[in-house]
Amino acid sequence: MGSRASGVNRGGCRAVLFRVLVAAACGIVAFATIGSSTSAQQRREREPNSVYAARRAKLAAEVDAPIVLWGYTGREEYSEAAIFAQEENFYYLTGHNEEDAAVVIFPASKSATGGSAGSDGKSEILFLPPKDTAKEKWNGLRMSPTDPGIEARTGFASVQPISELIPTLQKIATTYPEIYTVLPYETEMGGYPHEKDEMDWLDKSVPGLKRADIREKIAALRQIKSPGELLFLKRAVELSDDAHLEAMKMMRPGLYEYQIAAKMVEVHLMGGSEAEGYSPIVGAGPNSTALHYDKLSRKIEDGDIVVLDVGAQYSGYSADITRTLPANGKFTPRQREIYEIVLGAQNAAIAAAKPGSQLCRAGKNSLFKIAYDYINTHGKDKQGRPLGQYFIHGLSHHIGLNVHDVGDSCRPLEPGMVFTIEPGIYIPDENLGVRIEDDAVVTETGIKLLSEKLPRNPDEIEKIMAEAAKKRAEGKKGDD
Ligand code: GLY
Ligand code: MN
Ligand code: MN
Repeated sequence: MGSRASGVNRGGCRAVLFRVLVAAACGIVAFATIGSSTSAQQRREREPNSVYAARRAKLAAEVDAPIVLWGYTGREEYSEAAIFAQEENFYYLTGHNEEDAAVVIFPASKSATGGSAGSDGKSEILFLPPKDTAKEKWNGLRMSPTDPGIEARTGFASVQPISELIPTLQKIATTYPEIYTVLPYETEMGGYPHEKDEMDWLDKSVPGLKRADIREKIAALRQIKSPGELLFLKRAVELSDDAHLEAMKMMRPGLYEYQIAAKMVEVHLMGGSEAEGYSPIVGAGPNSTALHYDKLSRKIEDGDIVVLDVGAQYSGYSADITRTLPANGKFTPRQREIYEIVLGAQNAAIAAAKPGSQLCRAGKNSLFKIAYDYINTHGKDKQGRPLGQYFIHGLSHHIGLNVHDVGDSCRPLEPGMVFTIEPGIYIPDENLGVRIEDDAVVTETGIKLLSEKLPRNPDEIEKIMAEAAKKRAEGKKGDD
């Protein structure tokens, strides 16, 4: 669903529903690595330094003034269970996942004396907090500017203490009329205070230094995934597929929604996921019609339909996958009718998707329109009206470092983009919600579904559920 873009995962420390479970798993990692140079919140994998450096160089070639970005402080969320995760733009450009860092990237254009004006010959500087051994006794090791070999580890030729940031900015202010940074903006969720805090700090520390927004330029880069990002996304999808298969096998009346979610999160974590891509959505019966249902408190009943929108994060990248299941293993005729319409809409969009297609509703190559038209011309509600009115969210969004990834949703698709295809019909009067969501990468000629191994066909789903129920019954008999 596209409508809550940038309202999710905006905290520096991710507030996932299963944070305690996640914290416990990461705690094990931290314990196992005491004494090494790995810090507790380190992601499982990371792209090579050269990849992050190439992204910075690309951006530096697009600007005529220095770019200044701040990472998260680690104090964004006041919770003992919070786990640090870097500000996404900062991570995209540095691969650095620790607190209180900043980066300055000078424009690529050279002055007559070599190097960018005011840069002292440096093309970029990473600023890190000083070594704090007392703090490290609690949190584990962190990188610091005085660590031997810090340049090679971070991929920055210049790594300086964060206290040097103000003098650097003061110098920049004498040479450039403005800097580029990520400016604060208001989202429908009210915005996130990080950028505003940094701008207030800047006003106090370097008064008069103007700034322009670099957000859209970074977002445009983030829309095309690198080979490394594609690998991380594929792993996130694989883990999510595994979790959905487990859910299909265990689903039955009498379980609570949270028990299904707990099993799925366990599959993610045991497979190496560091966190959920977003809070798991498991909504049965009436809850199937709430798009981002989050209470997970219902006891699943015979005859319920259950929407499971659950996706893993792997090495910072999030999958986003939904399946809709009959609680008792067999869709009612009406549930199957609606399910098949949603599946038909998804298949129509999948068949049409190729480079040049658009994810936004208005575009002339809009995939949304294809799915909407399918839904609106198939089936009726109880009053005999077409079903388009019950498809109440967008069809697609990009995925990446954010499950609702950044960038212009009307930008025509290009090879290397990764996005969701997720039609849905939600009829509260019938306690009937159906969503099917898959993740796809754009190829030179079309798209490839990353989540294709996870069945969407209702017969296949019923078969998997029936086989699992049979095994459960046999197991019970064996116990008697
Ligand atoms: N999992 C939220 C969405 O599908 O957009
Ligand atoms: Mn989605
Ligand atoms: Mn989803």
